[in-house]
Amino acid sequence: MDQHLIDEIIERNDIVDVINSYIPLKKTGSNFKARCPFHDEKTASFVVSPKKQIYKCFGCGKGGNVITYVQDFEKISFPEALKKLAARAGITVQQSMQSKGKDSKRDLIFKIYDLTTGYFYKNLVEHGSSALEYLAERKITDETIKKFKLGFALNSYGGLRNYLLKNDINEKILASTGLFTSNNSDLFRERIMFPIHSSSGKVVAFGGRKLHESQSGGKYVNSPTTEIYTKGNELYGLFDTKYTISKKDYVLICEGYTDFLRLYENGYTNSVASLGTALTDSQISVLSRFTENIFMLYDGDGSGRKAAVRAAGKILGKGCNVKIIGLPEAEDPDSYIRNNGAASMQKMIDEAKPLAEFLKDDEVIGVDKKGKLSVLFDILNEIDDEVAQELLTQDIAETFGLSGHAVSSKIRKKRRTFKKEPEITEVPKMEQFTEERDIILLIINNQSLYKKVAQEIDSSYFLTGKYRKIYEIISEQIENMDNIPALISKIDDESIRNLLTDLSMSEPPTQTIDDAIITLKTRKFHLKLKAINEKIIQDPTNRELFAKKSELKKEILKINRKVVRKTLY
Ligand code: CTP
Ligand code: MN
Repeated sequence: MDQHLIDEIIERNDIVDVINSYIPLKKTGSNFKARCPFHDEKTASFVVSPKKQIYKCFGCGKGGNVITYVQDFEKISFPEALKKLAARAGITVQQSMQSKGKDSKRDLIFKIYDLTTGYFYKNLVEHGSSALEYLAERKITDETIKKFKLGFALNSYGGLRNYLLKNDINEKILASTGLFTSNNSDLFRERIMFPIHSSSGKVVAFGGRKLHESQSGGKYVNSPTTEIYTKGNELYGLFDTKYTISKKDYVLICEGYTDFLRLYENGYTNSVASLGTALTDSQISVLSRFTENIFMLYDGDGSGRKAAVRAAGKILGKGCNVKIIGLPEAEDPDSYIRNNGAASMQKMIDEAKPLAEFLKDDEVIGVDKKGKLSVLFDILNEIDDEVAQELLTQDIAETFGLSGHAVSSKIRKKRRTFKKEPEITEVPKMEQFTEERDIILLIINNQSLYKKVAQEIDSSYFLTGKYRKIYEIISEQIENMDNIPALISKIDDESIRNLLTDLSMSEPPTQTIDDAIITLKTRKFHLKLKAINEKIIQDPTNRELFAKKSELKKEILKINRKVVRKTLY
């Protein structure tokens, strides 16, 4: 790909503006901070430097330039991120670049899902009178159908397949789309189709609801896991509601498609559906990027309530706040709003209860006080976060009139009083010098130093693999070292990219380049010496080894003299 074009795209998209359009950034000093969008955290360790045009998370280590950000946040490919940023900056990307960049398999599957969504929608509008009747009966408006691209899968074994083939989709890829059964027939037949969008707005899966009770198969047929979809990672509706969730600073989580659509139509445009009853940790992580305040709005029956309680425990464990709304036993949010109106729904939301209180008052799940406490103690024991555990302990104690001590005595796990030490990776002692890092930092901050370093040592003096790699990149790209964001896009290895952004964000060291070079040289000679000594032990009469050894000792002496001279003058 044309490097000039990439450079221009980076230049014309200010990293602060771009990232700020995804997550709110706060100015601190000359940088901007946020809670990291790439890992779950409570404090802001994600730093964006407007001066350097790079970002770095000091919690999870992810870092990069404006392109890697869009790639990682939207889960899209490099060319896709480029296209997006080019469009944002009003740069026209030539057709040549688009056709040259071969679509990745993922891109192709995205395209197939897009085509399929259109196909199902067209079916509904043109051939789906029974489905339209069904939707009308369920009071789902045309506006909602359009907005959420609901569709209809015909009662046909090959309709979708033929449609895709007609649209130049290669037959070979169909098996990996999850849209077909093992004998190549359409997976979804005679079903109302709900496209599931990723949080960046691409259709990644479908849920298909049967139209008639008599039909075979489950009430819903869902897309399997594919290269673009992992069940339990997505939240239905989030793409449309994430900004409102963030603005209103709370979210309503319901179970199903129809619940979501009903809530949305009634002004609850800050909702999502978890699609099934078990809310997953990864869904909570995604949501917590937009708000920390979560309302569980599951079905009113026993299984809905139990699931809401379990979800609430997980939410607390992630450090978020949660309240549970207890609908009447026979209702889900869809039926509740239809039967009682939006105002009554609002009342239910206002009356939402914290976990312990919800359980205490519950009469549907069907356990006695002892059973309720045991559920709560189990949840308490699942929570790792100490603060969250303490808060729930207090909540249980107050709600059930127990002493805090009585509740905390139920915590089986000993609380860790010390923070777990970070794992020490297997770096032999000789490698734990800061000099490797220092040399690189010094060059990054002043490229004219590179020449001096290159005269004295080469990359083999770097014993830590990742620093050696970075040094090699510097050697090749020394002309481009003044444009780190552009350089980042030339590096394929993510961990190396992360390290480079880390280094670019760090303060230059106080030691001089000469000292750092000498340390690396001495170390290398000492290592050689050590190796020779080991050989001598194996082969004590080998004169050649002794000659080498004395040669090396001379070299080391020379370096040491240099050091002495340096300290004298
Ligand atoms: N679900 C599923 N497979 C099933 C049943 C349910 O995937 N066999 C998921 C669907 O995402 C569904 C949600 O769980 O939307 C909630 O299930 P349920 O309450 O049974 O369905 P509703 O969404 O309420 O559907 P409907 O109102 O049409 O009965
Ligand atoms: Mn339901």
